[in-house]
Amino acid sequence: MMTGVLLLTSCAGTVPEPTPSHLQWASQQWPGTRMEDLMKGRQLYVLKCSGCHSLHRPDELSPQQWEKTVPEMMTRAKLTQEEAMLIVRYLVTVTETKEDSLGENASTTGTRSGQ
Ligand code: HEC
Repeated sequence: MMTGVLLLTSCAGTVPEPTPSHLQWASQQWPGTRMEDLMKGRQLYVLKCSGCHSLHRPDELSPQQWEKTVPEMMTRAKLTQEEAMLIVRYLVTVTETKEDSLGENASTTGTRSGQ
């Protein structure tokens, strides 16, 4: 009955879209991971995890904390195992690739001196 799809396009700033670099990292961790899996993880995270509190930015928690927290929230958010897994993969990937491994001049806007 309810279509919450519109939510996905707004306020996406705090929850980054998966990039090819993310996918590259993720598919090394979990062979067979596809872009769709990461996108679905993000969607599920936005949809299922924003009902009770505002979304936590992925980089607010460490990958280890996400791996622990999502299963804890799983019953609250009424997730299936698979949904929980996709959310964890998305969050861990985004968090884990933030600092390093994105250095291959992939898509950064370079040295634009921001003010
Ligand atoms: C039914 C309500 C509900 C849903 C749905 C829910 N949460 Fe929570 N969440 C809470 C409450 C209540 C707290 C704070 C109290 C607590 O930690 O027990 C919390 C706390 C948190 C925290 C902070 C925990 C910490 O240790 O600092 C994180 C991170 C979190 N939730 C992530 C998620 C994620 C990810 C999802 C989706 C899988 C989710 N939540 C869905 C109710 C919910």
